[in-house]
Amino acid sequence: MPAHPPIMPGDAAGLAEAARLLCAGKLVAFPTETVYGLGADATSDRAVAAIFEAKGRPSFNPLIVHLADSDRALTLVQSIPVAERLAEAFWPGALTLVLPRAPDCPVSLLASAGLDTLAVRVPSHPLAHRLLDAVDRPIAAPSANRSGRISPTRASHVAEEFDADTVALILDGGATEVGLESTVVGFDGAAPVLLRPGGIAAEQIERVAGPLRVSGSDPDAPTSPGQLESHYAPAKPLRLDVLDPGADEILLGFGPDVPAGAGTTLNLSPAGDLREAAANLFALLREADRTGCASIAVMPIPNRDLGRAINDRLLRAATPRT
Ligand code: TXA
Ligand code: MG
Repeated sequence: MPAHPPIMPGDAAGLAEAARLLCAGKLVAFPTETVYGLGADATSDRAVAAIFEAKGRPSFNPLIVHLADSDRALTLVQSIPVAERLAEAFWPGALTLVLPRAPDCPVSLLASAGLDTLAVRVPSHPLAHRLLDAVDRPIAAPSANRSGRISPTRASHVAEEFDADTVALILDGGATEVGLESTVVGFDGAAPVLLRPGGIAAEQIERVAGPLRVSGSDPDAPTSPGQLESHYAPAKPLRLDVLDPGADEILLGFGPDVPAGAGTTLNLSPAGDLREAAANLFALLREADRTGCASIAVMPIPNRDLGRAINDRLLRAATPRT
């Protein structure tokens, strides 16, 4: 039986070790006021890929990025007045705001699942605050459970989910106060949209931001480009499982055996490493999309481990938008 991850109390030694491990690209679980988060350096594609690997999710969903204070959170995104009023009213706290990424946003595209938006949150838990302040960088953190399991509200719950090879440390802050994930709010222009109900009631949000539309509740509502899409898709057509790319196609390769005669090639992982491929996926798709080639051809990706999530996202990206 593999060992469970070590648990340290949230004292000075525990905090210093957690900060050191996060800065070294490791996964560290930490308490927030809502649930425990599985944290990683959000500016590192590899560290973010390790989160998805640890969760065992069959897809890449965009993650929430955690900051020590509003100033640091709002520099990562292009804010709007209504979002700032919400930040003022509810941060630090159980509110997540989804806004367009700032042009120079240093957060991994994998954390945004390739979207042009980023989810940011300033947690109120004192340990989370001190940890985020110590690392002084955005920390991506989904709930610290494996895919399909319920969100953990105690350090022992997290320990049951993972082994020490995957999660380097669990910082123990006792039972979480809210016990329910944060409320996620996006924006359609200036209009707030409830993307996920959570720890802060919709009525409370409405008192500050005005009427909230519930995501998906109005099928006739126009979707605003770049704002509330649920997945990334390149502008160019995408062909999957390609071993014979056409002359006007750019090839997104995987592994050492790129077909002879392929023209322009970007390789997701020349070594055939699925974690590296996941880390590179959205950045290379965007790079391919910026070239003059007519379409993007992607080599077969093994459908195991992170390959399942890569294939899921590629399949969605290859499906034309309506
Ligand atoms: O309370 C919480 O929010 C916890 C703690 C650890 O902070 N975190 C959490 O993360 O619940 P996660 O990954 O389990 O949930 C993230 C939610 C998902 O519903 C996701 O779809 C949404 O946030 N989300 C993140 N980025 C988004 C984006 N760019 N656009 C739309 N939705 C986004
Ligand atoms: Mg979750």
